[in-house]
Amino acid sequence: MANSDALPAARPAGAALALLPPPPAALALEFQIDAPDAVAAVLAGLRLPPGTLLGIGRPVADLLAGPGALPALSAMVDRAGPGGQPRAPASQAPLFAWVTGADPGVALHLGRALCAALAPAFGLRAELALYGYAGGRDLSGYVDGTENPTGDAALAAAYVAEGPLAGSTFLAAQRWQHALRALEALPQADQDQVIGRRRSDDVELAEAPPRAHVRRTAQESFDPPTFLLRRSMPWGGVGAHGLLFLAYATAPAAFDRMMARMLGEEDGVVDAVFDFSTVLGGGHYWVPAAGPGGALELGALGLG
Ligand code: HEM
Repeated sequence: MANSDALPAARPAGAALALLPPPPAALALEFQIDAPDAVAAVLAGLRLPPGTLLGIGRPVADLLAGPGALPALSAMVDRAGPGGQPRAPASQAPLFAWVTGADPGVALHLGRALCAALAPAFGLRAELALYGYAGGRDLSGYVDGTENPTGDAALAAAYVAEGPLAGSTFLAAQRWQHALRALEALPQADQDQVIGRRRSDDVELAEAPPRAHVRRTAQESFDPPTFLLRRSMPWGGVGAHGLLFLAYATAPAAFDRMMARMLGEEDGVVDAVFDFSTVLGGGHYWVPAAGPGGALELGALGLG
């Protein structure tokens, strides 16, 4: 495949890629179904290049194996806080790809090759270029990913351990647009209260308010404890920018539980992150494992 030699061959493809920290550059691609009759053959014949990952949305699972297949895979739905605000609209796509590169040009050429390989079954419906900032920070300046599980805990948080889906993972992808001036208008100490950590040294505040983002999402505070492996990346230019929130878990329900808490669905307390950022859309995807040659393991959908 074009330019795949520009990435280290050791870089995994498919679900295994979720374990690596965010790359310098990436593309998030969303596809629509153009030719339903070609979907099974295209997916069965696909060979993912290193550094790429494919997520199957509910519409593709329904098409291939019927509504009863992959019951854990829900479509993302529109949600809102108790008074109708804030809103977290969904924009579920049939198929999602995450294409990583050593630089934006490498990601672009891998993305082009992937689009060609997915035709005529799928057509590109949206794309978003992603980049790293300051060694893993959100554009707000805060380190993003500090409390991610690591080692065996990361494997347990992200990968289905047994059964027909063993070795696969579920991805939640949600696009946020920031209004950074709203955050920057606050004194630094108040900005830190929004997140619940200090921007200067990433230390968690001992007395963060209940609406601070890290108090709303504290993984051990859920019953049962709910862990996500987050791999979010910034997007955009001077005029419009934000975060593509990307997180892997053993089921979409992990993200949904956390989002419900952020929206104040449980107790009316809305996550302070909504003070400076807005959800534009999002989707849930099942990310199958890929063999050494990049072939997707699609037995759960009756393929291969
Ligand atoms: C504008 C959107 C968001 C921004 C800027 C953001 C940023 C951050 C930052 C700076 C941290 C603290 C450092 C860290 O542990 O990574 C954090 C923690 C966290 N975020 Fe977000 N986040 C956003 C949306 C979300 C969403 C949508 C979810 C899940 C539904 C989420 C889940 C988490 C979790 C689980 C933690 C770690 C909490 C803990 O256990 O301490 N975040 N986020």
